[in-house]
Amino acid sequence: MKVLMVCLGNICRSPLAEGIFRNLAEKRGLNVFVDSAGTGGWHSGQPPDKRSIQVAKRFGIDISALRARKFTKQDFEAFDLIFAMDRHNINDILALADSDIHKQKVKLMTYASHPDKPTDVPDPYYENEEAFYKVYSLLKMAIDSALNELVS
Ligand code: 4NP
Repeated sequence: MKVLMVCLGNICRSPLAEGIFRNLAEKRGLNVFVDSAGTGGWHSGQPPDKRSIQVAKRFGIDISALRARKFTKQDFEAFDLIFAMDRHNINDILALADSDIHKQKVKLMTYASHPDKPTDVPDPYYENEEAFYKVYSLLKMAIDSALNELVS
């Protein structure tokens, strides 16, 4: 299975989500290809935000080698599942989709952990370090739940 994590800049939330997803999938012995992208391209080619690298490292995950890239239409074909961090990201991704098959691949990151209440992974870019720890916790919960659903 191929899974893409998407946020706005691809430097804070989605690289962290990519690292956590890969780590948890490996722990479960699942064979998944994970990547991440941003709906905006301002940070293309850049490593993740220092605060995301730091919080990932704190939990034993190295995301320092990842580089940002922009989401493209080709990603609808290349991936089986596309996880959007918030509802702005979902809208921006869906605006590029040409078919229902592509649209059905797009899910809010927390769809499995918060099934009755759509919940955004909040953008921590203009926040402090604590916000990055909160993003990490929410992502961990969301990805654990999503993996439970994917294997069931
Ligand atoms: P991300 O955070 O979408 O979680 O990577 C952001 C990073 C950069 C910007 C916005 C959000 N920016 O406006 O440059």
